[in-house]
Amino acid sequence: MSTARFTLDPAFTVGTVDPRLFGSFVEHLGRCVYTGIFEPDHPTADEAGLRTDVLDLVRELGATAIRYPGGNFVSGYKWEDSVGPVEDRPRRLDLAWRTTESNRFGLSEYIAFLKKVGPQAEPMMAVNLGTRGVAEAIELQEYANHPAGTELSDRRIAHGDKDPFGIRLWCLGNEMDGPWQTGHKTAEEYGRIAAETARAMRQIDKDVELVACGSSGQAMDTFAEWEATVLQETYDLVDYVSLHAYYEEHDGDRDSFLASAVDMESFIENVVATCDHVGARLKSKKKINLSFDEWNVWYMSRTDAQVSALDWPEAPRLLEDVYSVTDAVVFGSLLIALLRHADRVTVACLAQLVNVIAPIMTEPGGPAWRQTTFFPFAQASRYGRGEVLDVRVDSPTYDTQRHGTADLLHATAVRADDGTVTVFAVNRSQTQALPLEVALNGLELTTVTEHSVLSDQDPDAKNTLTDPNRVAPHTATGTTLSDATLKATLEPLSWNVIRLA
Ligand code: AHR
Repeated sequence: MSTARFTLDPAFTVGTVDPRLFGSFVEHLGRCVYTGIFEPDHPTADEAGLRTDVLDLVRELGATAIRYPGGNFVSGYKWEDSVGPVEDRPRRLDLAWRTTESNRFGLSEYIAFLKKVGPQAEPMMAVNLGTRGVAEAIELQEYANHPAGTELSDRRIAHGDKDPFGIRLWCLGNEMDGPWQTGHKTAEEYGRIAAETARAMRQIDKDVELVACGSSGQAMDTFAEWEATVLQETYDLVDYVSLHAYYEEHDGDRDSFLASAVDMESFIENVVATCDHVGARLKSKKKINLSFDEWNVWYMSRTDAQVSALDWPEAPRLLEDVYSVTDAVVFGSLLIALLRHADRVTVACLAQLVNVIAPIMTEPGGPAWRQTTFFPFAQASRYGRGEVLDVRVDSPTYDTQRHGTADLLHATAVRADDGTVTVFAVNRSQTQALPLEVALNGLELTTVTEHSVLSDQDPDAKNTLTDPNRVAPHTATGTTLSDATLKATLEPLSWNVIRLA
């Protein structure tokens, strides 16, 4: 195998990583909330009913902005149902997932959960623009954020929350381009309601940060035209446009699956081009940033049948994908794609946080454990803070059915404030180790602090309830740094974190 190479130079950077790039997502879906983060009868539950074993893992994961309450769920959400005395809260049908919502966990509990996670966590609240509109959005905002002295803010205080929630980041609906969405809209219809909602929310607080719905995926028929139409209406009123993307292995085509980030990077670049096109058309100096607020590996093709068979149960097991080493390598590559575009992707949410296509799994009344995907996320959130260096790889390539010719090496590098550098790299070859050489120009780096690898003799190995620690990163040997050159060998099908000081 020939050597893959790139050069790092602090003079050539992409942008500063926004901590919100390491966001996640809690939806009222399956067991994400109930028996995931919230299980009052669990032996580790605190006085608020939150599982402290899960809280510990969320902290270790390093999740920042946590989007809530959906997802498709939000398009039927009545926020009033989710506040006030628990015994008075109504049970409702959730059309999105054919389940029954008890509302035992609601807005106040979500804010309490974030506080327990700690200062790294930040709310990212979605408003319902499916079955509802401008009035309900501003009422929710007033209830949540107004200090006191109005019916809605005093209602919050009477409910036991004296301090306003201080929610700055808001999503204007969810996936409104998708025909599956309750209250699905055309781009023109959504552009209008998003603009009017944004205008009203800014009348309450001009500093709110607003995310307009982009496409649910780059494969949508309306992709790009949707963004252009919505932004034409909302350009001056919103800060972000959203992107959602999920990847899975189709028909055993692992080579294509391993190159999923090729699609993710082109999606990001196409949305940036569309935003800037509208900006140019409007002669605006403002730049719209990207909120990649749903991304993950998800075996979605198995989901439809699961959901349509449901008869309105409460918190059933849904979307509980169990991730392999291969999934974690693709997942790491998706993280690399986000970091490589940190100049414009300034919010991103791993969908989701617990049990539902999640890095953290739980058993009701039982343990919580880390999926394989937990490790790349935790490492990227921990070491991927600072300035992203421009990485242009010269790599051996391979052919894929879905994504054409792809580099075997996918990589990025982040320079922290203290001058240390972390290289994140994936070897997409299923069979061969990949020699890597990195020229370090003007970086004053002398030591390899760590080369951590996630790979396995069995690429399908997983962590499960009965074997929760089967997969974990290990340390690679033979990685050197001398004469301003880093040399390493990347194991076949591996995620690598190489820290330099
Ligand atoms: O994350 C699961 C679902 O995927 C979300 O509810 C929806 O927004 C998307 O289609």
